[in-house]
Amino acid sequence: MRYGTLYGVGVGPGAPDLLTLRAIETLKHADVIALPRSSDYGASMAWRIIEPVIGKRSDQERLFLTFPMSKEPVRLRQAWDTAFAKIGERLENGRSVAFATEGDPSLYSTFGYLLCEAQRRWPGIRVEVVPGVSSIAAVPAVLGVPLADGLERIAIIPANYGVDDLVTILNSFDTTILMKIGSEMPKIVDALKRTGLLHKAAYVAKATMPEQRVAADLQEVCTERGDCFAMVVVTRRERSGVLAGEVSPNAVLAQPQVG
Ligand SMILES: C[S@@+](CC[C@H](N)C(=O)[O-])C[C@H]1O[C@@H](n2cnc3c(N)ncnc32)[C@H](O)[C@@H]1O
Repeated sequence: MRYGTLYGVGVGPGAPDLLTLRAIETLKHADVIALPRSSDYGASMAWRIIEPVIGKRSDQERLFLTFPMSKEPVRLRQAWDTAFAKIGERLENGRSVAFATEGDPSLYSTFGYLLCEAQRRWPGIRVEVVPGVSSIAAVPAVLGVPLADGLERIAIIPANYGVDDLVTILNSFDTTILMKIGSEMPKIVDALKRTGLLHKAAYVAKATMPEQRVAADLQEVCTERGDCFAMVVVTRRERSGVLAGEVSPNAVLAQPQVG
């Protein structure tokens, strides 16, 4: 069977002008745009991001797909199965489907599951991934702080799956990124206090969106249920750049970086 092409399109962190040219082209030319949302009645963040740029077209289908915010495997499997069947109907009719996903498709994205499933369900299908600006790039830009220099190491933690080992992680990495915060903020603040890193952490919700919120003092947001689009970044290192400060002959300096 000749299937339509399946695209996984990263639509960036929120601001429509952070959509890439390739994402815009792919979305404009697809027969179907598949749009994930967390409930049947809720809005799709991906559609909110792309609508001002690509608009509605009468000959292009918008296929809203519900993926509930749940950890129950049975409920999730059912939702994915229904969504993938709807996508399959279109692909089997030779129509191209662009699955729009917030940020980048390779990071905690529903498209990841679709990618794993695609060759099994639709053997020989052409799949193309269009990278997007991830929240991991957007949040440091909002904060004006680099994530890592030279020899520094980064940890990325999906906090809503548990932060019991956070003290160890904070002590082991130069920068720790906490995503999917859910209701874990009190535990995160507690771990930051125990490691003496509270003043080194920043909270950013809805980076690059009109509702963007930044809190340099995490105690301000400690008792709130985390925003669905919020991140905490903790950077331990005091950075002085390569030109400042005294350099001892034995000091380990970052290798020059190209790119
Ligand atoms: C399911 S993951 C999707 C990540 C997305 N694929 C990416 O590349 O950014 C959702 C998590 O990403 C983070 N996130 C996504 N967009 C964000 C934004 N605009 N501002 C802050 N955090 C964001 C939050 O931690 C949120 O809980």
